[in-house]
Amino acid sequence: MTKNRSNYVDKIEILNDGLKVFFSNQSEDIFPNIWLRDHARDENNWDERSNQRKTFTAKLNPNIKIKNANISNEGKSIDIKWSDTPNDIKYSSEFLFKNSFNYSRKKNQIKIWDNTEINDEIFVKYEKAISKEGFKNLLINLHVYGFAVITDCQKKMSSVEAIAKKIGYVRNSIFGGLWSFESNADMADSAYTSEELRPHTDSTYSNDAPGLQLLLCCEYKANGGDSIMVDGLKIAKTIKDKNKDLYEALTKIEVPGNYTGDGVILEARRPIIKLNSKSEISQISFNNYDRAPFRLDQKLTKIFYQAISMFDNLANSKDYQWRHILKPGELLIFNNWRVLHGRGSFNGKRKMMGCYINKEDFDSSCKINGLI
Ligand SMILES: [Fe+2]
Repeated sequence: MTKNRSNYVDKIEILNDGLKVFFSNQSEDIFPNIWLRDHARDENNWDERSNQRKTFTAKLNPNIKIKNANISNEGKSIDIKWSDTPNDIKYSSEFLFKNSFNYSRKKNQIKIWDNTEINDEIFVKYEKAISKEGFKNLLINLHVYGFAVITDCQKKMSSVEAIAKKIGYVRNSIFGGLWSFESNADMADSAYTSEELRPHTDSTYSNDAPGLQLLLCCEYKANGGDSIMVDGLKIAKTIKDKNKDLYEALTKIEVPGNYTGDGVILEARRPIIKLNSKSEISQISFNNYDRAPFRLDQKLTKIFYQAISMFDNLANSKDYQWRHILKPGELLIFNNWRVLHGRGSFNGKRKMMGCYINKEDFDSSCKINGLI
């Protein structure tokens, strides 16, 4: 078997303000001196046990120079002599390669879907879901489609907790950690009624909305009440393809969400389609129930209402909705930063249990399992 040498270093060139590195896969990059010095990983600058930086970065000379540099270990590392350190500092070629501009992580592709593109793959049996290999499949579904259904669960809180603990830990919120609910008109939130609940994301009033939501059906003696899943990325894509101005409005206008009741007033604001610095979508937040009053100028107000109409009409179109009546023992799990959820109207009794998991804990689980 030949070794993957793509992250080895073939050649280096010391420049005035940086080090030019030529990797074996023909890619090259210039690492600025201050960046390299800041990322020194010898024992004086890096704590291996805690994976934390020890360097007092603010005290570094921003114009620091390389005194000398050599390729070592047959290209697997580079040794750099800095003007402010007594010994050479070793940099692994792999570390530099993974931090070079040309490096793109091998990712499991996500699939942007409408209801025709969802099949039985998204159902995973509980016993499998908590096994080593099956758990990875569950995570793949969650990563690729943004949701999954775990079947054959015992109808008790410990099932919800067991799944949550496989991924991360149960998040506490105004609703508690692990919660159960059924139709109850006394509660402040719209999720407790038996009317149609249109697709939305939870906690637009929270600065850090829950990453995953788990919903286990424990009792179903009813008509209707189908769970609805809609891919927020599909809605965003359609709007971007059809009307760039409305898309832009959804990415720029910060919409406040509010939760008032149960002794609290919670509020946060962010765009419905939140982008990262590369203009990629990092989060979808849409909850028409929880939108707080806010003002825009006359022109923007018009655009905003056009934009949310388009968004909400797509979210409520049957083509975009995957619908499924959860049977007792079925647990729906979804990415609340991507997939909108809703529930059809129903008559009768329906008892659910569930919890939230933080987004970074879901991401961590995906990273640990090599998905992202
Ligand atoms: Fe909800």
